[in-house]
Amino acid sequence: MSGGKATASAPANIALVKYWGARDLARALPLAPSISMTLDRCRSRTTVEAVAVGDTVERVAAGDAEAGAGEEVLLRGPGGELAPAPERFAGRVRGHLDELRRWAGERAAGVRFRVATENSFPASAGLASSASGFAALAVATTAALGCDPLGDPAAGGLGSALLSSLARRSGSGSAARSVLGGYVEWPAEDAGGDDDPRAAALAPASHWALADVVALVEEGPKTVPSLDGHRLAPTSPHFERRLAELPRRLEETRAAIRARDLDRLGPVVEEEAIELHLIAMSSRPPVFYWRPGTLEVLEAVRAMRAGGVGLGAWATMDAGANVHVLCPAAEAGEVAERLGRLAAVSGVIRDRVGDGPALHDDHLF
Ligand code: PMV
Repeated sequence: MSGGKATASAPANIALVKYWGARDLARALPLAPSISMTLDRCRSRTTVEAVAVGDTVERVAAGDAEAGAGEEVLLRGPGGELAPAPERFAGRVRGHLDELRRWAGERAAGVRFRVATENSFPASAGLASSASGFAALAVATTAALGCDPLGDPAAGGLGSALLSSLARRSGSGSAARSVLGGYVEWPAEDAGGDDDPRAAALAPASHWALADVVALVEEGPKTVPSLDGHRLAPTSPHFERRLAELPRRLEETRAAIRARDLDRLGPVVEEEAIELHLIAMSSRPPVFYWRPGTLEVLEAVRAMRAGGVGLGAWATMDAGANVHVLCPAAEAGEVAERLGRLAAVSGVIRDRVGDGPALHDDHLF
């Protein structure tokens, strides 16, 4: 392996039916299927350089870690400056790189990685930055190792199924869905029998132009990582009942997407979000992601749907305080304006359904 550099971006996704609770948390194996919509503007962009260790002096700029030392993990800030990533995040990236190295075998022999990443949106605030970040990491790393991650398997590419498996190896299950565009389902079981369920597309982004207006009520990092939420979920008295409800909700969601029917999708999506948080709040110990602003936005969304206004707006939250408001693309401007006027809302991100990951020629370093 002589070393290579690649840059990829991958989108965040918003879960319509949530992944909450794992049968194997270390391997991010879910207890139930989940369905998401891939976003367009909320993305992580990651450059990975595979440095042949014997070649380090020539390939790595002065001041870098020595050959054979740990992987270098950098974050790019809004001004373009590169700084070492916080240790918690860097540790997960290194763990993911180890998994990818194991998978790559000979291809990655004698290689260490240098990684830089940036997000187009607030990270760790329940906006799926781990999904986009680890999907981008899997695409960029495999490309840096000389694979064709986005190519068709029939033509020697990795293909989205394998990429879905590689993307969640850091333990972020939702990353399995961020390797595909449009509307995506991640099953709980693996049809192939090797216990490695891979996400698949339900419909491409072009099937249904839904918008997602994100109301930010808290831009700082959340206090309880979703990994802890998954671990505690089965301690909630509501957990088993939710599992029993899920087959109906999954079927409703698939049917609503097929029919492009937001009046059918919306109630299921809100029910799902509230139940995830009900389970989190009733876990032992309880986990609270909501902030007072979350309730203000939920109330405003209900008011938008009411007669007189009549917008098709429906709310959902992942493991954080911020609220995603799904609506028809034609109503996104008015929804964003109304949300932006709320006292609790510090900012609004106007996003929409989008395509999956992409490779780029302009590197972060
Ligand atoms: O992928 P994780 O481990 O960060 O878990 C994701 C959890 C939720 O965002 C709340 C739900 C989901 O399906 O994305």
